[in-house]
Amino acid sequence: MPSAATESIVTRLLEAFAAHFGAPAPAVVARAPGRVNLIGDHTDYNDGFVLPITLDRAVYLAVRPRPDREVRLLSLNFEETIRFEIGTSPTEAPRWAAYVQGVVTELHRHALLPSGFEGVLYGDVPLGSGLSSSAALEVATLVTLQHLFGFAMSGEEAARLCQYVEHTYAGVQCGIMDQFAARLGRRGHALFLDCRSLAYRHVPVHLKDWLFVIIDSRAPRELAASRYNERRAECEAGVAFFRRFDPEIRALRDVSPELLWAHPDQPTPTIWRRCRHVVEENRRVQEAVVDLEQDRLEAFGQRMNASHDSLRDLYEVSSPALDLIVDTARQVEGVLGARLTGAGFGGCTVVLVHRDALPELEQRVARAYEATFGRQPAFYPLDHNVEAGPIWPETAALPVSSTSEGDEAGASEE
Ligand code: GLA
Repeated sequence: MPSAATESIVTRLLEAFAAHFGAPAPAVVARAPGRVNLIGDHTDYNDGFVLPITLDRAVYLAVRPRPDREVRLLSLNFEETIRFEIGTSPTEAPRWAAYVQGVVTELHRHALLPSGFEGVLYGDVPLGSGLSSSAALEVATLVTLQHLFGFAMSGEEAARLCQYVEHTYAGVQCGIMDQFAARLGRRGHALFLDCRSLAYRHVPVHLKDWLFVIIDSRAPRELAASRYNERRAECEAGVAFFRRFDPEIRALRDVSPELLWAHPDQPTPTIWRRCRHVVEENRRVQEAVVDLEQDRLEAFGQRMNASHDSLRDLYEVSSPALDLIVDTARQVEGVLGARLTGAGFGGCTVVLVHRDALPELEQRVARAYEATFGRQPAFYPLDHNVEAGPIWPETAALPVSSTSEGDEAGASEE
């Protein structure tokens, strides 16, 4: 059974659809979730490892086909509509439209869209907080159209297509993590992904008396894109340096700790620190997966702490706001680990906490944060998570190509 929250979103979408487009009802409502990364940041574009988990928050689309080649969409979040012909760009479109139009254009280039469509979209993933609302929008668009038109596409292909859209239509040179998690994350599991081979494993998350809570600093992330690209360039400079010693090295993924420590401060102290973060973070992710699988939550929490410290001191993507949240959280009895999550430079932290300690955590962090920054952070306890797929009128598996792995995230139930 879908949760009450999901049901009320579906009702809202159906009502808005009827009011805006009239009968008949949409053919399908589908969604794709946002994600929070538990450990492994700034590793994906270095061909490394990540461990995201999807949220219980998602982007939803309710659509029906049109007899012509037009796309008409109403966003309930922005109270804006867009309209364009498939294969063309909407003129003066709002920012959210670029993601939808990018997915539509790419599907059209693959000759997968038999007609236009119209519908309503809504999302409850916080925007601009580093919880991948844009990946959720891209994947939700793709999954909904896949279900509407019944074309086959594996989860890996879908994630790659959406990443391409983010690069090309939104101008963000992101790695593959967010789109992969939104498309292939599974309910009740974290997603352990090798960003080079795209091999992945769903890791069951049995937290019992513990839970992950996301704390959003609500700090502006204006410089995030340029500083993100700067970090990518530093990693490439690191690869160029270490390749001199081993021509097989294609990414920081291939640099061993031995090689790293044989050349301290090379080619520059800053670039070396960036490389060290990536080399050590990759190892931490692999160890953290084993911790989670063996229910060693304390060890898992310590690795979260080590990851944050490395992102703060070596990779230098933390901020005073994120550090204050993390430091305050760690002082609360019942907190096993706390770290920034995603790109950094503002955005969110993720904390592993005992359920009984959650009120104390929220109070202490809210008080300390307000005292220093004069505003409140937002708390999103992650009680359950959802997966991409159709949710109305009935649950059904997505059509997939024969090359996919057979453990597709299909029907979503909560
Ligand atoms: C952003 C990017 C991801 C990843 C993280 C950092 O979320 O979109 O691809 O690089 O930053 O781990």
